[in-house]
Amino acid sequence: MKAAGKLMKVFVTRRIPQEGMKILSAAADCEVSLWDSDEPVPKAELLKGVQGAHGLLCLLSDKIDAEVLDAAGPNLKVISTLSVGFDHLAMDEIKKRGIRVGYTPDVLTDATAELTVALLLATARRLPEGVEEVKNGGWSSWKPLWLCGYGLSGSTVGVIGLGRIGMAISQRLMPFGVKRLLYSGRTAKPHAAEVNGEFVPLDTLVSESDFIVVSCSLTPETKGLCDKAFFSKMKNTAVFVNSSRGAVVNQEDLYEALSSGQIAAAGLDVTTPEPLPTNHPLLTLKNCVVLPHIGSATYSTRGVMSALSARNLLGGLQGTEMPSELTF
Ligand code: NDP
Ligand code: DGY
Repeated sequence: MKAAGKLMKVFVTRRIPQEGMKILSAAADCEVSLWDSDEPVPKAELLKGVQGAHGLLCLLSDKIDAEVLDAAGPNLKVISTLSVGFDHLAMDEIKKRGIRVGYTPDVLTDATAELTVALLLATARRLPEGVEEVKNGGWSSWKPLWLCGYGLSGSTVGVIGLGRIGMAISQRLMPFGVKRLLYSGRTAKPHAAEVNGEFVPLDTLVSESDFIVVSCSLTPETKGLCDKAFFSKMKNTAVFVNSSRGAVVNQEDLYEALSSGQIAAAGLDVTTPEPLPTNHPLLTLKNCVVLPHIGSATYSTRGVMSALSARNLLGGLQGTEMPSELTF
């Protein structure tokens, strides 16, 4: 691949699974440089690494803003992110510069839905607390009300954002005997019929659900959506689960709702910031289960994401079709 007779320069911001690296290494005339670490590239190194790059393969932990785009300069034709979420990309700036964007929808839907269901069950049935009690000697005998939680059978589940992942979560939850599945979003979804989904205003969803699952994308409209007013409308017995992005939730308000008994429990796969500092108040609560953003973390899913992000990058460099191009 040559730009006016020269090698196409690609910067990869992290060690990625070999499936993607193999594809990039096999690309003729493509000069790949890599931030060869499992830890995020420091901003200064990112600014250096992208200089003159034609392609950038990045992760959700890399903020790609005007400064990075300016540092890259006019060669930059394509940004490929190893994620389906793209809230870390300054889309307005990218659009202004005519840069194409690749992302990884669909291939991580099953893994993320599975993890979200696991998190919901772990939170509702208090699994981390139970495991801890077994280890610390708190298990004295079988007791009628000890470690009781909430079950899905006969419940009402509310899904905020019935997109690819929201739908896959719903499909997995229905067989547990869920009675009503409510969802909210900008538009009603024809595919909701498959899970008997009822499109309702957000307020209805919040006040009527026994389980609330957040699976929308992070946008200016969804930022801070789950705040004091939101939690105050939830049932005291309801469980809140978020596997979208941390910034959808106002964490101070969530802490207040959990510690005051306004809501029963919360399971979070995503937080602000990430990692969540070990002294964060949410981590002091027994009724809050926090995971380190592992929704898509299966070996095969990450391998497929890696390969897809490499193919997206090459398509963008060649000026041909990208397998998953973000249209905006
Ligand atoms: P989709 O684009 O398929 O779904 C996003 C959904 O968000 C759409 O249904 C959209 O509904 C909804 N949405 C947008 N704005 C609003 C709003 N204002 N109120 C309610 N809903 C809204 O994306 P995916 O399902 O593939 O992924 C969803 C998100 O999950 C990603 O953006 C990412 O942040 C997160 N994610 C997290 C992972 C993890 O590891 N925890 C793994 C993968 C993804 P509508 O069409 O009506 O606007
Ligand atoms: C994404 O893809 O947006 C997730 O957060 C990580 O897989």
